Amino acid sequence: MKTLILYFTTDGQTKKIAERLADAITHEVEMISLKDQAVDFAEKIANADQIVVGASIRYGHFNPLVYQFVEQHYVVLNQKKTAFYGVNLTARKANRNTPETNTYIRKFLAKIKWQPTQVEVFAGALFYPRYNLFDRVMIRFIMKITKGETDTSKEYEYTDWQKVESFGEKLNFQ
Ligand SMILES: Cc1cc2nc3c(=O)[nH]c(=O)nc-3n(C[C@H](O)[C@H](O)[C@H](O)COP(=O)(O)O)c2cc1C
Repeated sequence: MKTLILYFTTDGQTKKIAERLADAITHEVEMISLKDQAVDFAEKIANADQIVVGASIRYGHFNPLVYQFVEQHYVVLNQKKTAFYGVNLTARKANRNTPETNTYIRKFLAKIKWQPTQVEVFAGALFYPRYNLFDRVMIRFIMKITKGETDTSKEYEYTDWQKVESFGEKLNFQ
């Protein structure tokens, strides 16, 4: 049995979640970045029993590469055991932390032709000091209007690792 975890990350949080999922999975796991141009994804998918895709939100959207990947592979994905997880800051709020209540996840699933077997959403991280000035100002503004942390000298991690582990356990074959 083999699980393939494909992730799209910018600052590393989606990859960190992928690593925790891999730790919770008891069979063989391979992790690959969706940005890796050298990979033959069709072949990798064909050789896996389960495919997990994780991606983060930036300025309201998943990266176009994620949509492109789904568009190219949805036929095979729909024939396999699959899972999708999204990462964003909105999910730090209790009323936005399920696939049904998180607008980014709902919109994404409505747009694509792949129906993942399992879906989850995780709160991400806020790394103010690592962002460029534009991003720092923009994110601080968004955090201010959504009553979040605004101290730009600090880093915050909102990811619920217990929730990540529970999802990882669901990815084990029965
Ligand atoms: C430039 C930028 C824009 C972001 N835009 C959004 C957003 O529109 N909505 C949201 O909920 N989170 C947003 N986030 C939060 C990210 O989804 C969060 O930081 C996540 O942990 C990033 O995951 P990654 O490191 O795997 O890319 C944004 C973060 C950055 C740095």
